[in-house]
Amino acid sequence: MGRIAVMAEERLAHVRMTTLLRACGEYVDRMSDAALDVVEFLLTTSVYSDDRSLDENDLPPSFRRVFWTGGVDDGDDDGHTHAGINRPLSATNSTAREATGVDRPWEAVSELMFTERDEFSGTITLAQEEMAESWFADRIDEQRLLENPTLASHFAAHEEYDFDVSHEEARERNRPIRADRVWIDGLLEEYFDEEEDEDMLDLVEVRAPEEVDITLDDLVLTEDQEGEIDKIAKAIEHRDYLAEIGLREIGKLLFVGPPGTGKTSTAQALARDMDLPFVEVKLSMITSQYLGETAKNVDKTFEVAKRLSPCILFIDEFDFVAKTRRSDEHAALKRAVNTLLKSIDNISLIEDDVLLIGATNHPDQLDDAAWRRFDEIINFPKPDYNMRADILQVITRQMKIEEFDPQLIADATEGLTGSDLRMVLREAVLEALTEDRTTLTQDDLLNAVEEFEERNSLKNMDMIEGDHDALVAGGDIGKASDGGHSHDHDHDHDH
Ligand SMILES: Nc1ncnc2c1ncn2[C@@H]1O[C@H](COP(=O)(O)OP(=O)(O)O)[C@@H](O)[C@H]1O
Ligand SMILES: [Mg+2]
Repeated sequence: MGRIAVMAEERLAHVRMTTLLRACGEYVDRMSDAALDVVEFLLTTSVYSDDRSLDENDLPPSFRRVFWTGGVDDGDDDGHTHAGINRPLSATNSTAREATGVDRPWEAVSELMFTERDEFSGTITLAQEEMAESWFADRIDEQRLLENPTLASHFAAHEEYDFDVSHEEARERNRPIRADRVWIDGLLEEYFDEEEDEDMLDLVEVRAPEEVDITLDDLVLTEDQEGEIDKIAKAIEHRDYLAEIGLREIGKLLFVGPPGTGKTSTAQALARDMDLPFVEVKLSMITSQYLGETAKNVDKTFEVAKRLSPCILFIDEFDFVAKTRRSDEHAALKRAVNTLLKSIDNISLIEDDVLLIGATNHPDQLDDAAWRRFDEIINFPKPDYNMRADILQVITRQMKIEEFDPQLIADATEGLTGSDLRMVLREAVLEALTEDRTTLTQDDLLNAVEEFEERNSLKNMDMIEGDHDALVAGGDIGKASDGGHSHDHDHDHDH
């Protein structure tokens, strides 16, 4: 082997060695991260089991999910079981894995001197709890402690550790149990037996905040909308004060605007950002098919909302109410809608902690009785030039686009809604994919805009020259020139 070859070989060996060492280092880091996660879990289960002053809201959501059971005997002898978390919490390989995401929890901590595993039951325990505490305390900071109210409470109470954290602060940060899917399911099961379930689930959908994937940050709002949202957020925060001074006419909002302007998204984003369950009533599901049950189910929906409170009760397509009151509809349908209106009157943000949000694409179809029930009307206009440019920025955050000029696109998309802009983007992305490209160009976007406009004008032509009787039968009298209404459903299914 020549000298150069030997040097190259040595060099390569060196590189291999360093790479290997680095990999080991990362491996060790990962191992100790895993150990830290598992020890946190073990400490938490142990502290929580002993300290009866702690409740479900003191457990991080990923931990309490593991211990949640559908039917816990609450010991009050009424024969009922209630969903909840039972003490003591037992840590096993599988509960620890589920809670921490660590693949082999026992292996991650078996080398530590203070851990122990019962071979028979598989339970992992801390044989030396104090040693475990100080090992853990050495390796974490206050930020981490604030994510776990159980441990924040424990370490704050022991002066030998000087963490500057308070139990209350950690609790406030922790997502409340009523925002967890499991808690909501437990409640729904209590209310609806299996037979009723199916009809009910068509009429109402309950979403946990963790299941909502849009936040207010993803939405471009008008100043007006932002102002109203700030107001309502403050009202929710200070509802005790509002009750004290007797201010009750608050907390019923009506979102008004054309389809695709962000009404549903804003209501959902509020739920997510404020950790409130999102209860949606779908009025279009009140059809004659289920009429016998509907009035009862409407009542139950409001009961559920009260039990889930604080929560958001969202009633889409509110114009449906007016429609049924006007026409000579089935008496049972009218009864159902009247029940709904009465329930709306009887629910309150201040007394029941339920924020009611109605939405409609057809404000002109609402009658006085419907308008009267809301204390704030929030307008959702089609976005102007600046908003369109902002929306384009927001919805392309994760995309690669060459020579992207949102202003120029905004200029070319007069009259389009946020939802339309999303469709334009989707079109551009799919078009580029047919050429195996995942980087878009400004031209792709402009072409997609053109495509969209073409489709839109076809749609409008259809409305103007199409069969007017068919339009009337669809209930859209006098709306033929608008062109947006026949597509309500496209928008509603966006989410
Ligand atoms: N102002 C906006 N900013 C960002 N995205 C928007 C905006 N308006 C609409 N969208 C998007 O368009 C889609 C449809 O909106 P949606 O809330 O369902 O409209 P609506 O309920 O008014 O018909 C959603 O994906 C939403 O994120
Ligand atoms: Mg909607």
